[in-house]
Amino acid sequence: MRFIAGVLNKVVILTILFLMILGYGIIIEPNLLRINKIEVGTLTKGKVRVVQFSDTHLDDNYTIRDLEKIVRIINHQDPDIIVFTGDLIDSVQDSKYPEDALKTLKKLDAELAKIAVFGNHDYGSQGYKYYRNMMEGAGFKVLVNESVILNPGGQMMINVVGLDDALLGNPDYKKVSSLITKKYYDILVMHEPDEISHFEQDPYELALAGHSHGGQIRIPFIGEVSTPPLAKKYVKGMYEITEEKKLYVSSGIGTTVLPVRLMNIPEIAVIDVNI
Ligand SMILES: [Fe+2]
Repeated sequence: MRFIAGVLNKVVILTILFLMILGYGIIIEPNLLRINKIEVGTLTKGKVRVVQFSDTHLDDNYTIRDLEKIVRIINHQDPDIIVFTGDLIDSVQDSKYPEDALKTLKKLDAELAKIAVFGNHDYGSQGYKYYRNMMEGAGFKVLVNESVILNPGGQMMINVVGLDDALLGNPDYKKVSSLITKKYYDILVMHEPDEISHFEQDPYELALAGHSHGGQIRIPFIGEVSTPPLAKKYVKGMYEITEEKKLYVSSGIGTTVLPVRLMNIPEIAVIDVNI
């Protein structure tokens, strides 16, 4: 009898602990925000501030009010370039927000440019009907296997190259490869981080990706529980591909599938790029 009571006690304690952790993962952590400040490169010509945000997955769990907060925080960082690495809306059927999202994202203020690429969710659930119009209406340049050259002043020349989404879009590796040049400081923008393997031979300096959500749920000492396709090798944070080439994988802001984040606080990356 005493043994059964002991086991029951442990089951009750473990259940309460599990519910507390789940409550934290559903109610508290998705509403936190970490601003990750990073510096790359060696200062020779000048410095440019890139602010990256990713994977907002607008839905009933992540609303326009939440997006407005993010916009205010990004503007507060004084960005020269704002980069969005895809997955704006979780699913169009579930979302009532395309027009409001456009108005909100329009308030983002960058000195030089606002750049975006497609994520798989921006194509899926008929998202492609809205995404380009929303982003362009909000002042973003949507790069689909294209590049844009920016001159922040002086001898600094930045070439931002965007790859189309690999899961539901049409990534043109050959074309994107040809757009990366030794002449400029090249920032390669893509949704799925493992796509970086297609550009091993190309002289980009900084690559930015999202998609992984950092695993969304992470367990101490183990790491991510699972990640989506094309986010298996590169999951979270800064990777030194070579001494000259860096890849930053954003953990994103919103959630998908499960409205839970654990040990993986939503993030905005503030990257000071020395050129
Ligand atoms: Fe995502």
